[in-house]
Formats: sequence, structure tokens, C-alpha cells
Amino acid sequence: MIILGIETSCDETAAAIVDSERVIHAERLLSQVDEHKPYGGIVPEIAARSHLDHIDRLTGEAMTAAKLSFADLDGIAATGGPGLIGGVIVGVMTAKAMAAAAGKPFIAVNHLEGHALAARLSGDVAFPYLLLLVSGGHCQLLAVEDVGRYKRLGTTIDDACGEAFDKTAKLLGLGYPGGPIVEATARTGDPERFKLPRPMKGREGCDFSFSGLKTAVKRAADNLADISDHDRADLCAGFQCAVGDVLVDRTTNAINTFAGLYPDAIRPGRLVIGGGVAANTYLRTRLEKLAEGQGFQLFAPPQKLCTDNAAMIAWAGIERLERGLIDSLDFAPRPRWPLDSPSPLMEAG
Ligand code: KG4
Ligand code: ZN
Repeated sequence: MIILGIETSCDETAAAIVDSERVIHAERLLSQVDEHKPYGGIVPEIAARSHLDHIDRLTGEAMTAAKLSFADLDGIAATGGPGLIGGVIVGVMTAKAMAAAAGKPFIAVNHLEGHALAARLSGDVAFPYLLLLVSGGHCQLLAVEDVGRYKRLGTTIDDACGEAFDKTAKLLGLGYPGGPIVEATARTGDPERFKLPRPMKGREGCDFSFSGLKTAVKRAADNLADISDHDRADLCAGFQCAVGDVLVDRTTNAINTFAGLYPDAIRPGRLVIGGGVAANTYLRTRLEKLAEGQGFQLFAPPQKLCTDNAAMIAWAGIERLERGLIDSLDFAPRPRWPLDSPSPLMEAG
């Protein structure tokens, strides 16, 4: 089985062709970072127009690089939400048009399901597994029982984890996108210098909170008369360390909950991470240590499969198509689409 996947839900325009043997035949990814940089964040209207300008060319280039024609495909998958609706519409309309013209199935993929299943593209990860999904829009702990079957164990009550990285970078004048810059800046910093809070740490359950941490970084920065590069490095290191402590604490609770929910699941238990923040090397190491200590195995997809990409969308399309889960051309793009809600297909009966 071989599928074309399209991703346009945020600020990356991407197309990839993936087969059921986990081979990525071709991929094209265009980041819009430079277009949004002057505004310090993503401007939805600019994003939608840019997706529209590039998606046909990128899809064509991927097909040519894979030496395939549309007749060779088994289906066409696109992110159907959640995300910036203008961009999602561009991807969905493109995929629907191609599917209609080529007479191939169309699959609307939940972007979060793309992140959730990416580890099954890069490795052999059996269900059920515990997923820590940390991206720019989401921060959740989920039990992944199967394709389309997710139990949410915890979520953020305010900011998403990536959002906290982005806001921290912005308030320190480090630019956008924040995650990679904060990680790089933290490398030379002292994580102990500033005493920052660990929101939710030690509490029951698996929920997260990040807005207090971001505010504490702002207060510490405001207290410095003149902020130097050295101060910025210490603040980034302190922030990243606090995020690590929180993720480890919340995921420890989730591991215990997960073990109780699936006592018969094969051992060792599997902890999967996904989403843009999962590209962070420091956090990957912290979670690796946690998993080891709990008798779990950590599965972390390569960094380019953690941040937004079309290969994970194509792969989720394959997983859905293999189970006969296809969508009608009436599918309406969804700005909001929680992973643990019934899919539109199931809702339609
Ligand atoms: O999954 P993703 O590419 O897009 C969404 O679905 O949101 O995640 C983007 C988020 C951004 O907030 C970005 O700052 C963060 O992931 N991110 C990182 C790193 N790389 C990207 N956060 C921390 N460390 C990184 N290395
Ligand atoms: Zn994403």
C-alpha cells in the first residue's frame, strides 16, 4: 500500500509518499518561518496564502521524485484538522481534488493522530502504548489503544508546552520559533541560578500547567536591570529544566495509571513521545531516563518526524486505509478536533 500525505495545518507546507513497509519514497517540506518572523508568531492569513502558493508544486515534486503517477497510489491523505482553518482547507481541497480526479480514496487525518502514530512509522511499536504529545498547540498524555482509539489521561489547563517555549523565547527577545532557540540558548546556561516554579509537580493526576512558569521567567527577566546573553542562557536553562521536571513528574503518574489500565499488556511497557517539543534533545534524555527507571521502553521518532511533516500524515493514512477507514469528499475541515472524540466517519455512522 502506498499513499500520498499532505500537511498544511500550521506553518509547514508538506507532501510525502510513504508505503506500508515504512519506506518514505519522497518528501518535500517548505517552512514558512521567514514569512512569519517579522510578526513574532504565525499569521493565519499569510500561512493559508503561502500553503496555496506552494502545495501543488511540492506535491508534484514529491510524486516525480518517487517516480509515481497518481494511478500508482492507493489513497491520498491530508490533515483534516485541528489547525489554522485556512491552511487545513487548502490541504483538504487539494487532496480531495486529486482523489476525485484519480478515483482514489481520500483520508482525512487528525493531525494529532499523525503525531501519535509517527513512532510506528519509525519503529515497531505495538499497541497499547502511553503517548506524551507535546506540540505547539497541545500537551497531552494519552493511552493509545489502537488507530482511532485514544484515552486521554491528562492535558494542559492553560498553555501548550511548545507555546510556553515560544512565549519564553519571545519575552527574552530571542525570536521565533522559540523551541529550538531556547534549547540552543540553554546549552551554556546554569539551570540553578533562577528559582523557577514547577507547576502541578507532586499533584495527583496527569494534567499540566505552563503559564505560571512563563510568567515566572518574565518576572525574573524584568528584575534584571539590563539583560545579558549570559542571563538569557541561565533563564532558558532554568526554564527548560523546569519543563523537564514537570514532564517527568506528570509522565510518571501516567505510567502508573497506564500500567493499571492495561495489566495484561506486553512488557516492557512502551512510552512514546511525539510533537515538536519531542525534538528537544535535553527533554528526550530526561524522558529516556524516566522510562528506564520505570521499566518502560522509550520510543522517540527521529526529530524530523516529531515536528510537523507530511510523512506522519501519509503513515496515519495508511494505518486508517488498512482498517477500511476512509472519508467522503463531503468531509468538512475541522479547526478543533480532539483526538479522543469519535472520528467524523464514526459520527456519520
Ligand atoms: O508539532 P509541531 O511542529 O507543530 C504543532 O503541531 O504545533 O510543534 C511546534 C512546536 C513549537 O512550539 C516549537 O517551538 C516546538 O514545537 N519545538 C520545540 C523544539 N522544536 C520545536 N520545543 C522545544 N525544543 C525544540 N527543539
Ligand atoms: Zn504538529
